[in-house]
Amino acid sequence: MGEILTKLNQYSKSDIYPFHMPGHKRNFSDSPLQDLYRLDITEIDGFDDLHEPEGLILDSMRKASALYQADETFFLVNGSTAGNLAAISATVSEKQKILMGRNSHKSAYHAVYLRNADPVYLYPDYLKQFQFWGSVTPKEVETNLLQNPECKAVFLTSPTYEGIVSDVEKIAEITHRYQIPLIVDEAHGAHFGLDPRFPKSAIQLGADLVIQSLHKTMPSPTQTALLHIKGNLVDRDRLKKFLKIYQSSSPSYLFVAGIDEAIHYVERNRNKLFTALSDHLYEFYQRAKELKSFEILSNGDQTSFFNYDRSRIVIGVRSHQITGKELLQVLLEKYHLQLEMAGMYHVTAISGIMDTKEGFDRLIDALIDLDQTLSNQDKMIRFYEVPESEHFLDKQESIMSPGDADSYLFEKVKLDEAEGRIAADYIYLYPPGSPIIVPGEVIKGKLILLLKQYCNMGLVVRGVSEGEDKEIHVLQKNFSECKK
Ligand SMILES: Cc1ncc(COP(=O)(O)O)c(C=O)c1O
Repeated sequence: MGEILTKLNQYSKSDIYPFHMPGHKRNFSDSPLQDLYRLDITEIDGFDDLHEPEGLILDSMRKASALYQADETFFLVNGSTAGNLAAISATVSEKQKILMGRNSHKSAYHAVYLRNADPVYLYPDYLKQFQFWGSVTPKEVETNLLQNPECKAVFLTSPTYEGIVSDVEKIAEITHRYQIPLIVDEAHGAHFGLDPRFPKSAIQLGADLVIQSLHKTMPSPTQTALLHIKGNLVDRDRLKKFLKIYQSSSPSYLFVAGIDEAIHYVERNRNKLFTALSDHLYEFYQRAKELKSFEILSNGDQTSFFNYDRSRIVIGVRSHQITGKELLQVLLEKYHLQLEMAGMYHVTAISGIMDTKEGFDRLIDALIDLDQTLSNQDKMIRFYEVPESEHFLDKQESIMSPGDADSYLFEKVKLDEAEGRIAADYIYLYPPGSPIIVPGEVIKGKLILLLKQYCNMGLVVRGVSEGEDKEIHVLQKNFSECKK
């Protein structure tokens, strides 16, 4: 057991009466959550303060930075969302430019909006067969920085939701030539850098700020994450200031203890844990070779990306016999396997060091079983045509920044009537939560087709109203005369 949990346990057993927050008073024995409440406190005497750590939490943060080889690590109790908000806020201000992946998570866009910064977009390569983003190339970063040397930071996502990794080492080298920091959203890679069989963490490869959702791939409670810093390109006081702004002033010790436990456990058991994961994955990918109707993403597809995290299992449907959503549904209903997300013709499963061999066996057995059914169909049936538009390949036309777009009045229009209008809100598939349309961008006809296709396929499209009408928010036609 880690030090923090040990101390919480001792406190809960002591005779100290809690005339302090939280209001459950650790005494809600009628609740099934009582085992958690027993340990749930916020800053009180004898415990440390997440915002000004000096004792227990500081020690634990130091253990985390040693494990990941960072100069300093901050605990986040509001997910990577808080990390992205703080990292971008600390490095760019009003009207300053940031070079960022167009495939960034909405939290990065929200930071740009809050700071009213000016985003310049990096367009990653594109995996046509799976229809999602690949890596951001060093060349793309170099070209954009040459054209926009006034950028104050570079922000990219590596790995992506689908496990695609960019060449962070080269990108850091290029970024540092401009004396600006590289921020890497490594939300899906908290297991990186801990074992040579998996990719290195961006913090080991020269990035200045790296954000990891511990809760996504490590044994830590939902909402817990880490923000690592290295070098001196980022002003640490400024970073801390923004962490205080974006994080609760009453962080729960359950989260803090959860992070400490995860670090403590992985520090002690990492070889055993990663060996087991590696062995399970090896067997899974070996058996997956016999699949005919499904295509599993692997390093063999490496023309559109630099590297791939094989713990992220991406299953594509060859010949589009069924959609991603249908595959997700059948895996849940028939085989009781809940996958993380569905795309048009693929599904994604998250695996990690806490998975069991039984879990991997059940997934591959189900896929083999389904494969036989699909392969025995005489005719390949296409439920949906792939839309002509490959919008991700096209650069979007941006008229103004998301912050500026927010200063004008907007209205709702039917999706069918939105061509040529300027978006007033984000539209994105959830998950993964990276915008297809950003406020300030001109809405193209091809994109409308694609969004309708997503809706027809039952994918969750946020920003488009449900029902027949399918409305979206756009700026008023004469928007320049209509400031809010
Ligand atoms: C790439 C990426 N970054 C950041 C986040 C936000 O992470 P969190 O849920 O830990 O706030 C997500 C969430 O899914 C994500 O996919």
